[in-house]
Amino acid sequence: MIAIAILAAGRGTRMKSDLPKVLHELGGRTLVERVLQSCQEIEISRRLVIVGYRSELVKESLIEAQEKTKDREFPPLEFVEQTEQLGTGHAIQQLLPHLEGFQGDLLVLNGDVPLLRAETIKQLMAVHKQHQNSATILTANLPDPQGYGRVFTDSQNLVQQIIEDRDCTQAQKQNHRINAGIYCFHWPDLEKILPDLKADNDQKEYYLTDTVSSLSPVMAVDVEDYQEILGINDRKHLATTSDILQTRIKDKWLRAGVTLIDPHSITIDDTVELQADVVIEPQTHLRGKTSIASRSRIGPGSLIENSQIGENVTVLYSVISDSIVAENSRIGPYAHLRGHAQIGANCRVGNFVELKNAQIGDRTNIAHLSYLGDATLGEKVNIGAGTITANYDGKNKHKTQIGSGTKIGSNSVLVAPITLGENVTVAAGSVVTEEVPNDCLVIARSRQVVKPGWKLKEPEK
Ligand code: UD1
Ligand code: CA
Repeated sequence: MIAIAILAAGRGTRMKSDLPKVLHELGGRTLVERVLQSCQEIEISRRLVIVGYRSELVKESLIEAQEKTKDREFPPLEFVEQTEQLGTGHAIQQLLPHLEGFQGDLLVLNGDVPLLRAETIKQLMAVHKQHQNSATILTANLPDPQGYGRVFTDSQNLVQQIIEDRDCTQAQKQNHRINAGIYCFHWPDLEKILPDLKADNDQKEYYLTDTVSSLSPVMAVDVEDYQEILGINDRKHLATTSDILQTRIKDKWLRAGVTLIDPHSITIDDTVELQADVVIEPQTHLRGKTSIASRSRIGPGSLIENSQIGENVTVLYSVISDSIVAENSRIGPYAHLRGHAQIGANCRVGNFVELKNAQIGDRTNIAHLSYLGDATLGEKVNIGAGTITANYDGKNKHKTQIGSGTKIGSNSVLVAPITLGENVTVAAGSVVTEEVPNDCLVIARSRQVVKPGWKLKEPEK
């Protein structure tokens, strides 16, 4: 039986932020969500998260994230409060009443080590089991070990001591083998010695790492790729890990048949799904639950978040959020789709067009300078340049409906709530305020007046 505990109670002072450190985002997920994700492939019987600094925020965020991923088959999250953050050892002490009588292993993960691979955790657990260790800890040889606890082992690879960077002598600092902050403990052994931790160190904190000196055997397992275990203590670390994560994500999509033009200028969250033969052009950012189907070309200069893009779509210098675009449609340049816009197949939406909560039928064109909000358009509609739906009366939003085959002349205002039938033609410059039936022409503007020979009067002297 395995329980996991994630350390997520600290503020993360070095981040210089109001937000708890573990809630900072990396590639579309919070740090702590990533840590939780890294243990999704092992069989777990309990999931404990130790929270403290702004604990309500951390809980809410994890519960929300969990609902999105629908990982229902996992045991529920149990939140354990550490009201004062007196160190990682003190944090684990808070588990004592919760894990009383538990006979299995406890996998402990720092909430600020977000790039850990599921494979690595599996390896750690395998070694732990094979050797029946009292504790097994993940270690790495870092080129720059500054800031990490150093791990001292004997010739058998058994851990004798972990000393925090700030407590190390100059000689001890020469040891580049570091503690990754990922441990597997045989809980009944840890339970016995946990209450005896002392805070006799530079920070006057109770260190979880001090437990290794009282347990035996404690084995170290080196991680193959040290990039996995980089811990995040400040913004510089966050930026470094973000680069590493982006490289991982882009490598994956390149191998899967996606073209990335100038990859360094592109960012892709790892919640994004791409099909083979998608082309991503420079300066493009794909975020959240976004999917893009085959043969679509996105960018340059586009931002797409939480949206579904069908096959063979082009998106040029545009912003699309929470929206859907069906196959063969052309979006941009300079379009903004938001608030559940839904674009049919073979449409054109371009040149300074904003669509909000608008459902657009197949083969409809909205090519220039328009705002359509809370609107439903049929098929083969043509919206002339400068058409606006006046959907807001200062208090409420109202709907506009436009039937298939209708053509709206340039610079028209459709004052919602309003319905226009099928195959209607609206004359340019109209302000349409009343319902329009099918098959007609509507002119809603004053007629042009021409006065022959008319001149301005000469001013009297
Ligand atoms: C810790 C380890 C260090 C290791 C490094 C790896 C200790 C004493 N040191 O140092 O050996 O090399 O991680 O990244 O464990 N936390 C709590 N409650 C607390 C204090 C911390 O929940 O009272 C949480 C933090 O939110 C964080 C994690 O524990 O997620 C690690 O804390 P942090 O202060 O970053 O430890 P490090 O100094 O990095
Ligand atoms: Ca840390």
